[in-house]
Parts: sequence; C-alpha cells; structure tokens
Amino acid sequence: MNYTSIIVTTHDTDGGQGFAIIQLNRIEVLNALNIQLMDELVTALESLDKDDAVRVMIITGNEKAFAAGADIKEMSDASAVEMLIRDQFARWDRVRRIKKPLIAAVSGFALGGGCELAMTCDIIIASETAKFGQPEINIGVMPGAGGTQRLTRAVGKAKAMEMVLTGKMISAEEAMQWGLVNKVVPVEYYLEEAKTLAREIASKPPIAVRLAKESILKAFDTTIEAGLEYERKNFYLLFASEDQKEGMKAFVEKRKPGWKGK
Ligand code: CAA
Repeated sequence: MNYTSIIVTTHDTDGGQGFAIIQLNRIEVLNALNIQLMDELVTALESLDKDDAVRVMIITGNEKAFAAGADIKEMSDASAVEMLIRDQFARWDRVRRIKKPLIAAVSGFALGGGCELAMTCDIIIASETAKFGQPEINIGVMPGAGGTQRLTRAVGKAKAMEMVLTGKMISAEEAMQWGLVNKVVPVEYYLEEAKTLAREIASKPPIAVRLAKESILKAFDTTIEAGLEYERKNFYLLFASEDQKEGMKAFVEKRKPGWKGK
C-alpha cells in the first residue's frame, strides 16, 4: 500500500530481530488523526504484525506533535448517526489487537485521540517537551477513543477526573510522576531511546514476548482469579516452544541462548 499520511521504515531486520517505525505524517495539522491516517496506521500495524522480520513497532510523530487529537474539522458537522456509522474510533480497537509490542515515542502534543493512541501502545517514551492531555471538554465533547478508561487505569480516578474535566495539559515530568509514561529524555534522544528499547525487546524470544504482552493486557479486563489462570496457561504453553528449551538449556550451560521464534 502507498501511504500518504504515515511513513513506515524497518530497521535491523537482517537477523530477523528488527523493528519498524511508523511516523505519523500530517505535519501541517499537528498529525490530527483523520480517518485516512488511522486507516493507514492500522493497515501498516496489521501488516507488520505478520512480518517475521519485525518484532516491535514504534509509533511516533515529530518534535512538535505526536498527534493533536482526532481531526476536529473532519467531524465538526457530523450528526450522531453519521458518527455511529463511521465508527471511526473502532480503529483504535484494531491497534489494541496488535500482538507485537508497541512503543509510543512522544514529543510535543499528545492530545485527545493522540494521548489515547499513545496509551493504546504498551510503552511510552516521552521527550521533555511532551504534553499530554484530554482537551475534548473544551470543544463540547469528551474522550471517545479510550481516554476515560485507559487514562483512569494509568493515573487513577482523581487525576483522570482532573485531566478530563478541565482539559488541561500535563507536562512530561508530571506524566512520569503520575505513571502515564515509562521514561522522559531530552528531546534530541526520545526516538533513539525508543529504538534502543525496541532493539532490546526484539532480541528476546518472540513467543514469550507475545504471550507476556497478552497476559499483562488481560489484567485490565478480567478478575484476578481469571487473570492468574490465563497467565498460568500461557506460562505452561511456552513449554511447547523450542525457545523455552533453548533458554533454560543455555542458562544451565552458561552460554547465550539463540532464539528461533518457534
Ligand atoms: N484537528 C484538526 N486540525 C487540528 C487539530 C485537530 N485536532 N489540532 C490542530 N489542528 C490544526 C489547526 O487547525 C491548525 O491548522 P490551520 O493552520 O489550517 O489553522 C494547525 O493544526 C496548527 O494548529 P494551531 O495553529 O492551533 O497550533 P498551536 O501551536 O497554536 O496550538 C494546539 C496547538 C494547542 C495543540 C491546538 O492546535 C489545539 O488545541 N488543537 C486541538 C486539540 C484538541 O482539542 N484535541 C482533541 C480532538 S477531539 C478527539 O481527539 C476526540 C477523541 O477522543 C478521539
């Protein structure tokens, strides 16, 4: 597919332990997430999810904006029925179903749907200049792509209420203190930091990575009992992989394991 709103690049894929970067590319509107961009993003993610040479995906924007939200101009005149039929935020559900780890590398504005997209990723690396917020209240609506749920789970009820009801932005430092992001680095390093992390995760046994991600996400929509059962089954399942045999054998033999992804 020829993408016009995103740029996809792959890195270090020679040894089959590579990663991909998807850069949101509507610079002139601060990467506002219109339907076209979201279609391209989920198409790229789903295709990379099936690509054996790629083990981790990074979603990023540019220094000024990760994404300033859903495209307000595209939806301002829509009726409720049109919004229902478009069901455009269902695309975020497809991001949630991606099996490989997703890292958001965020600089500048991550607002509304932009903040929600970052939160749909598994790990967020932020530049010191990143600003997170759910400002939908200022335009007469509320978060519609997961903000009330994921933000609340990430930062707790009190802070989620404050952010969503006031629409105010928080700094990268606050986002770090509140548990929304994993790491804050100077702006010149945020993408490098995300790449370093991607390389590290890409070097791990991919089936174990996949089942571990799946099990952690399960914690958000199940009881502790069902979640523990799910985790245990995935743990046992890994004993059917060659990588488990290799990993444990290599430990005993005091050597580095060689993963096959099988
Ligand atoms: N949708 C459409 N266009 C947007 C946009 C958005 N979300 N955010 C910015 N733009 C456009 C602006 O209209 C402007 O375009 P023009 O040059 O054609 O006028 C261009 O991007 C640059 O923006 P600004 O001139 O406003 O830049 P700024 O630096 O002065 O301000 C900002 C930056 C504070 C982020 C401001 O642009 C802003 O408030 N943007 C909207 C943020 C927002 O409300 N996001 C939530 C959207 S709704 C949503 O996301 C629902 C959901 O839950 C999924």
